[in-house]
Amino acid sequence: MADVRATPEVLTPPEAPPSPTHVATRREDYRPPDWLVPEISLDFDLDPQRTRVRASLEIVRNGDHDRPLRLDGDELTLISARVDGREVEPGLDGKQLVLDLPGSRAMVETEVEIAPAANTKLMGLYASGGILCTQCEAEGFRRITFFPDRPDVLSRYRVRMEADKDRFPILLSNGNNIAAGEEGDGRHWAQWEDPFPKPSYLFALVAGDLKANSDSFTTMSGRKVALNIWVREADLPKTAHAMESLKLAMAWDEKVYGREYDLDLFNIVAVADFNMGAMENKGLNIFNSAYVLADQETATDADFDNISRVVAHEYFHNWSGDRITCRDWFQLSLKEGFTVFRDQSFSADIGSAPVKRIDDVRVLRAAQFPEDAGPLAHAVRPDSYIEISNFYTATVYNKGAELIRMMATVLGAEKFRAGTDLYFDRHDGEAATCDDFVKALEDGSGVDLSAFKIWYSQAGTPKVSARLQHDPQTRAATLHLEQRVDPTPGQPDKAPMPIPLRTALIGEDSCAEIAAEQLVLLEKAQATIEFANVAEPPLLSINRGFSAPIVLTVDRRPGELERLAQCDTDPFSRYEALQELMMCALVASATGAAADLEPVTRAVGATLRSDALDAAFKAEAILLPSEPLIADRLDVVDPDAVHESREALRRAIGNELRDDLASAYGTSGAPGHDLSPAAKGVRRLRNVALALIAAGDERVGATLAHRQFMAADNMTDRQAALGTLVSLDAPERDQALAAFYDRFHDDPLVLDKWFALQAAAQRRETVDEVQRLAHHPDFRIGNPNRLRALAGTFGYNHWAFHSPDGRGYRFLTDMILDADKLNPQVAARLIPPFGRWRRFEPKRGELMRESLERIVGARGLSKDVYEQASKSLA
Ligand code: TRP
Ligand code: ZN
Repeated sequence: MADVRATPEVLTPPEAPPSPTHVATRREDYRPPDWLVPEISLDFDLDPQRTRVRASLEIVRNGDHDRPLRLDGDELTLISARVDGREVEPGLDGKQLVLDLPGSRAMVETEVEIAPAANTKLMGLYASGGILCTQCEAEGFRRITFFPDRPDVLSRYRVRMEADKDRFPILLSNGNNIAAGEEGDGRHWAQWEDPFPKPSYLFALVAGDLKANSDSFTTMSGRKVALNIWVREADLPKTAHAMESLKLAMAWDEKVYGREYDLDLFNIVAVADFNMGAMENKGLNIFNSAYVLADQETATDADFDNISRVVAHEYFHNWSGDRITCRDWFQLSLKEGFTVFRDQSFSADIGSAPVKRIDDVRVLRAAQFPEDAGPLAHAVRPDSYIEISNFYTATVYNKGAELIRMMATVLGAEKFRAGTDLYFDRHDGEAATCDDFVKALEDGSGVDLSAFKIWYSQAGTPKVSARLQHDPQTRAATLHLEQRVDPTPGQPDKAPMPIPLRTALIGEDSCAEIAAEQLVLLEKAQATIEFANVAEPPLLSINRGFSAPIVLTVDRRPGELERLAQCDTDPFSRYEALQELMMCALVASATGAAADLEPVTRAVGATLRSDALDAAFKAEAILLPSEPLIADRLDVVDPDAVHESREALRRAIGNELRDDLASAYGTSGAPGHDLSPAAKGVRRLRNVALALIAAGDERVGATLAHRQFMAADNMTDRQAALGTLVSLDAPERDQALAAFYDRFHDDPLVLDKWFALQAAAQRRETVDEVQRLAHHPDFRIGNPNRLRALAGTFGYNHWAFHSPDGRGYRFLTDMILDADKLNPQVAARLIPPFGRWRRFEPKRGELMRESLERIVGARGLSKDVYEQASKSLA
């Protein structure tokens, strides 16, 4: 390891970037805007090749200063500029247009030209499958017109657009449609007005040949809101679930947060080319079609759940994001952490709450914990960035949500609601900060939450160790707790954090709660908590419901976890006990120690046979921890050893529990059209069982999976069967892949699954497979969904990506560099798998580091990719 660590000093440090544009923006440098723009009018002459944009900005000097007006611009061709009607020659400073203005207000008019069809970055105005659409968060509006493109400049928008009527019959923007008409030359126009002042990142425009699924929602005050989901005509039948989700979300936000929708119109548009999941533009949400389109034949249960989640997320932003926005991008978690917390609560309420919590924690551990433990670690409220797009992270989103969840846990439902009521009331119409949010929670609830603020500023996952001592004579039990946070980049010394731990004791003999749940708040580095009248040997049930986002190590006697897996009264902790039992065995065998698999198979069998547990819970509980998760527990990672260890346990479970798995596989009660939590749970259990059956006996598994694949009347079962087959060396594998392609190759979202399944296959040949697929006629590097399906999925296929010859690294490196030329934002998101190079065995570590160096050294690198790759090397 020493030689692996010695090298980075010779590399270009991030302080000396190769290009002057790659400079960091710092939170401490925040200054209020010099000029405000209370009103803006935009006039679009739309054409995919060449669009003319005229902007009229009403400018007002903000405060007493003599600084010029600076307008951001990016890839704009300036045609003309006027101040109060007089043509001017503006100065240019980098990409900014600079105007010296004598007075305290002015009317600034600009005219620019842009080329939507040539916009491969998918930021600003671009073309997607014949539709013209916009994406402005975070800094895309400057690619449409010159403007102070920062979230604390709020303006009222008036928009006029004109386009060819045949190609673009539908013309949409934010707010209300106030006028429309024909031009006579085959062109038509529409005018839109948004009454709510908003930052430029919430601006949106769409023009295209779209059809709507239209419906309505009557708000709690009795206003009728028109709802439209706009898609290509052929996709209309796939919009029903998104519409149902939207109406559920609107009703939920009224009931749970008292938030009512505020316009008479709410539009959603689905596009096939989109950098992220979806965007909360005021009154005109734009979605990645993956989070809108679904039917039984083409979408899995997980897809349906994701649609509900994302539709709700974007809708909830109307209050937590649009009505109250962020002062600056360092405050991003103000809207994202809170909105994720809101969408998580919504999904828990409309589905199975325990399963949702298990899912959310799985995402946190898979995406956020590694981020927090690696070179890209940053605080929920970061201190600096080179490219803000790189900070739309699991830390800002998911850890941000956990932090709000902790405060909600401490406050309880009623006081938390009092706090959010005050927040929405106090800051409505403002650009606020994370401090404002905590202050409102404190003032509304009357509870001091100041200690929790460190969760916004200190990066790294706290490590908590717990030990329970019991004295049968005195019947006293003592819980010893200790916490520490490891250093992260730029934060060598860490302070203790407030950690709320929902804690109970379970009787080892009685299998019942012998000390009722209490909320233990660990505030210092150490603490001890006393329990009285503990009459039997107690089992510690701690961090129930994952009440704090920490890594917990509990000092336990043999047999404790197995017992807890049967007795814990908190569903999450019960799940956790079985997972931890598996993890101990997996870590032992991955490090060459003798692993006793018997307690694991015994506990899995007991879980499968339990009458008290539902199918969905069983499926989650018996699913083995992933390879990256096992790797996270090791000091030096050997991916082959990790893979072997996990496969050995899968084989053991498959063999030992053949009958239990067969009967789980035989569970009925899941007709394909049934999307109830119960039916989804049965499908999940059957498919988890199928994979384990195949691990025990490939032949039986291949036969069952192929039969299921052929007979499936829904995508959940079809995809799961194919998911089992792709990792087997059976003739059914290639037959099924070919059949799947033949049937679905015209449906881009399903074809993404076909690419992703092959990139996720647990086979040595997967490295060759992904290389072949990169040359498949249906592979499109410019389409983010397709790129993520192949390259993104492959980067998380631990065993295949970390192929010892380095071919996996070479494949992803080439892909990143190719993608960067078209779409830097999406390319940068492929880098994190390289970031953990220091933790791998020396040979792989060195190969990974070389890949990062190759990226950093590439000519014409974007600042997105530069920031992620150079920070990963440090
Ligand atoms: N605000 C969006 C959300 O979380 C995220 C988003 C959509 C985004 N598109 C983007 C962020 C492009 C950065 C760049 O709901
Ligand atoms: Zn969001």
